[in-house]
Parts: sequence; structure tokens; C-alpha cells
Amino acid sequence: MTALPGDADARVRTGIPGLDRMLGGGLPRGRPYLISGGSGSGKTLLALSFLLEGLQRGEDVLLVAADEPPGEIVENVRSFGWDLASVKTLDANPGLKAFRRTAAVQEIRTMTDLRSLRDIAEDTKRPEAVEDISIQSIHLKLRQQMAGTPFRRVVVDSMTSIRRFAVRSSNDVQAERTEIQSLLRFLAELDVTTLITVTPGDPGVLAAEEILSRGEILLTRKWIGDRSVRQIKVVRMRGCAHDPERRPFAISPQGLVVG
Ligand SMILES: Nc1ncnc2c1ncn2[C@@H]1O[C@H](COP(=O)(O)OP(=O)(O)OP(=O)(O)O)[C@@H](O)[C@H]1O
Ligand SMILES: [Mg+2]
Repeated sequence: MTALPGDADARVRTGIPGLDRMLGGGLPRGRPYLISGGSGSGKTLLALSFLLEGLQRGEDVLLVAADEPPGEIVENVRSFGWDLASVKTLDANPGLKAFRRTAAVQEIRTMTDLRSLRDIAEDTKRPEAVEDISIQSIHLKLRQQMAGTPFRRVVVDSMTSIRRFAVRSSNDVQAERTEIQSLLRFLAELDVTTLITVTPGDPGVLAAEEILSRGEILLTRKWIGDRSVRQIKVVRMRGCAHDPERRPFAISPQGLVVG
């Protein structure tokens, strides 16, 4: 069922009230969005807040984890009092073999299929059969999972890592773009709200995810003397009036706090 504009249900709360206010109530439901920012800017924490909010609403939520091992994600956010153990996870971290390979390698390897973070955290020592992974294989697994479970929220953290490790060859830009477009199109057609984290890359390259995503939230961090200043900005948000200003935010003991 597609939510109509104006439905209370048409907006998806991010789990960060100050950001929801900037968005006029939350993210328009059922679309893919980019969360961009440099390393340490807060992308993963924002995306996990979004998943936690979904869990608290009794929704099925899915994390495609390519930046850090899922067990470490659970551990890292425990200090915020966040229990993400029931988040379903597709572990797209490249295995050790992939790190040792050269640029000519065509595929990366992953250790696990879709499992809950709780299972992975309790089971990190068991050797797993490695499996081929690529943007296409992530796409295929998402299709399989979406067919079985009505996920309402998906996070891909990060597309930058997936591209780095899963691209077929460093010169095959067009093939990579086609694969990303196909994945994003698939997500956009479903009734699922997706956050895709990216680290801004070469400004000369208009990445496929920028074209296809329905909006972008940019996180920045700069140092003024020895003080770190974090800011958040809704760069674009199609079909939704929003606060276009850059707003300060903090990472508090409870997580991200805007304003
Ligand atoms: N458990 C925690 N307690 C306190 N601060 C934390 C915690 N986890 C992360 N942080 C801080 O929050 C900031 C944002 O972290 P986050 O992992 O969300 O960044 P990121 O944008 O995803 O970075 P990267 O691109 O490297 O993955 C970092 O500066 C980090 O030091
Ligand atoms: Mg991160």
C-alpha cells in the first residue's frame, strides 16, 4: 500500500527528533536516501538510530554491513543503551582473502548470509564457508530476503565500501553504475525506506546513487582550535519541504542530538 502525502504514515521517523523536525516530520516513506559525510562524521550512528527506531515500532529492519563486522557494531552502540541484537544483517564485510588479493580480483568474499546480529555476535569464532559477494549478489540476496520478510527499513553501510571491494575491475565504471542503479531501482520500487551511507568521493563523478536517491543528508565535522563542531544539513529532499539550513548536532551519551 502506498502512503498518500499527508498520511501520518507517510513519514518515517529517523529516531533523531531534531532531524525529523528538519524534515517536516520524518523521511517520506518508501524511498532510498543518501547519508553522506567523511569518516567519523556520524553516518553509521545516524543509520543505526533509524534502525533502532524501527525496532521499537515493531518493524522488520535490515542492515547490510560492509564497513565493520556486525559483532563490533553491536558492541560499539551498547554504551548508548541501544539493543540492536534483533536487527537482521547481511554481512558484506570482505573476508581476509579479499584484503590480500590484488586489483585484478573480480569478487570479494563474505563470511555469512543473512542472520540476526545476536547470532553473529555469539558466533564470531566459528569458521564459515566463504561465499562470493558483489553488488549483484547483494542485490540478489536482498531480493530473496524481501520476498520473505516485509522489511520496512533497510540500511546499506556503506556503499563506499561495497564499491571499493565489490567492483569487478577498477575500469568497469559503467558496469558498476548499472549494478548500483539496478539495486537502487529495486529498493525504490518496494515499500521500504532505505538509508545508504557514502563517503563523498571524486566530485567530478556523478555517482549513480546520487542520481537515483530521493534525498541526501550531509554530515560534516570541522575543528575550530581544539573544539570539534559537527553539523547536519538536508542537502536535497525531493517532494518534501524541509529546513535547508546547516544545524549543529552532538553525539551525546544517548546518541545523535540535533539542535
Ligand atoms: N559508542 C560510542 N560512544 C561515543 N562516541 C561514539 C561511539 N561510537 C562512535 N562514536 C563517535 O561518533 C562519531 C561518529 O561515528 P560513526 O561511526 O557514526 O562515523 P561514520 O561517519 O560512520 O564514520 P566511517 O565513515 O569511518 O564509518 C565518531 O567520531 C566516533 O568517535
Ligand atoms: Mg560508519
